[in-house]
Amino acid sequence: MLSQIIEKALNKQVRIEAESSQIYLAMACWAEAKGLEGVAQFMYKQSDEERMHMLRLVKFINERGGLANISELKAPNVSFNTFREMFQELHDHEIFVSASINDLVDVTLQEKDYATHNFLQWYVTEQIEEEAQARAILDKINLIGDDKGGLYLFDRDIQQLTIYNVAGTPKGGAQ
Ligand code: FEO
Repeated sequence: MLSQIIEKALNKQVRIEAESSQIYLAMACWAEAKGLEGVAQFMYKQSDEERMHMLRLVKFINERGGLANISELKAPNVSFNTFREMFQELHDHEIFVSASINDLVDVTLQEKDYATHNFLQWYVTEQIEEEAQARAILDKINLIGDDKGGLYLFDRDIQQLTIYNVAGTPKGGAQ
């Protein structure tokens, strides 16, 4: 059984994951409208992953005797000056999500809820991957600079990354 404090903290994370899914869906649309097919596919996949992160929390809350709260969401940013700015926003958002997961883990220790603490370890590992991926992409973009040919190759590269992640072991593991 979840304490009210834990239930509330988990539900806050449900909302953050749902908002993350919307943020990346908006980025997918922006990229698709700009003809950046690879980037768009990557962002659609990121959006799906965030929904999976949300559902995992929803099911855990409900299975442990709580009630998942499906709330109104903050509208995402839908427009970006450059694709670099968009990926910077993705990177910064993942740092924010990691901090939120860390706070949540801290609450489980304060509440001595070791089952929820254990459940959250998957998210701790996932955030390490998400941050590393976002940093690697930003490094690549910084190398390209304003080079148009570079952008074309980047778009193709990121499409390969998406295909690889879908075909290989999916990031996010078992659902
Ligand atoms: Fe669910 Fe990208 O954090």
